[in-house]
Amino acid sequence: MNRKKIFCFLLTGAAFSACATRQVTTEEPGLKSVLGDKFLVGVALNTHQSSGRDTAAVRIVQRHFNSIVAENCMKCQVIHPQEDRYDFRQADEFVKFGEENGMAVIGHCLIWHSQLAPWFCVDKEGCNVSAEILKQRMKDHITTIVSRYRGRIKGWDVVNEAIMEDGSYRQSKFYEILGESFISLAFQYAQEADPDAELYYNDYNMHTPGKRRTVVKLVNDLRAAGLRITAVGMQGHVGMDYPDLDEFEQSLQAYAATGVKVMITEWDMSALPMVNHTANVSDTVAFRKALNPYPEALPDSVSDRWNAKMTAYMNLFIKHADVISRVTAWGVSDGDSWKNDFPVHGRTDYALLFDRNYQPKPFVKELLNTKSEAY
Ligand code: G3I
Repeated sequence: MNRKKIFCFLLTGAAFSACATRQVTTEEPGLKSVLGDKFLVGVALNTHQSSGRDTAAVRIVQRHFNSIVAENCMKCQVIHPQEDRYDFRQADEFVKFGEENGMAVIGHCLIWHSQLAPWFCVDKEGCNVSAEILKQRMKDHITTIVSRYRGRIKGWDVVNEAIMEDGSYRQSKFYEILGESFISLAFQYAQEADPDAELYYNDYNMHTPGKRRTVVKLVNDLRAAGLRITAVGMQGHVGMDYPDLDEFEQSLQAYAATGVKVMITEWDMSALPMVNHTANVSDTVAFRKALNPYPEALPDSVSDRWNAKMTAYMNLFIKHADVISRVTAWGVSDGDSWKNDFPVHGRTDYALLFDRNYQPKPFVKELLNTKSEAY
């Protein structure tokens, strides 16, 4: 996108709906051709998509995105369900999809307290294993997975969601047994297994000052210890009124100031009433009709606000394109989004860049139009 067109996009935030009526045809460019000179344009794939079964989604992915991340199939529970058994079927298929389509393939995630196979941190009696045993298990897990895809996966979310909003460490089994050192160990094992892979720390609510402080310290400590960390992933599970965009930007700048890149790794925006401010998958709330106000369609007034806020985020990403290396949407179309079931199961949310009919949202159309008008 040339400067003039970007400027136009920056101006359109509030008034996008009036000028976004033009239909996008298959001849028009995809998001990757609009934004690809700024950062990788990524999307999380579920297994219906990476296997090719969801053909409508695959068409969108091929046209618009140049990077993919595994939404679920590389999580410990799936890929390493028992200590002596790995299951690479879905992960292999996912990596193959990325390679066949010439995309930057991202691995998610090596060490995470959630979706962790039940055996990982305990012995047969269910008691925590010793620090030495857990280190060995982490090393085996990371080495096996990272080595298998060495040279094929561009980067890994090495550690996911280890720090709380107040800046303290999450009381996970990893932390209970190894203290903060589990993070540096994970980076060390990943670096040894693939010296060329990019390595990331990834978390949600990264705008909060407490988390910001500890993540900045973590990055500095890892680098001081001679370990490689390529980027900080700000997940970006946001709502229309949360978080404050200035706080988000302050964090983005603070992470970039450490010298690593920043990535927006799991971008989506709920259009529904917010019932909590977390992406921690166990923090659920019971369904009530009042919490599911738009089961059929999003009213225009809400849609306009949603699109305007997504435009504001995209403008922020474009403004900081010099330090942002990837922006990844957490799913292809609204029907795929985890937000339909979190934090309240069974809602109808509208969180992604493409609607349930695989049509681009108005703010996406507007972005695409700025490019085609430039020809
Ligand atoms: O695959 C099983 C299926 O066999 C079973 O019948 C069905 C019954 O519930 O569950 C299916 O697994 C679900 C899985 O997604 C695949 O659809 C799990 O229940 C469900 O908990 C899981 O949710 C995922 C969640 O992480 C937990 O792993 C979401 O799709 C995924 O979007 C979400 O992603 C996380 C990131 O990894 C880390 N950051 C936060 C983000 C959102 O929570």
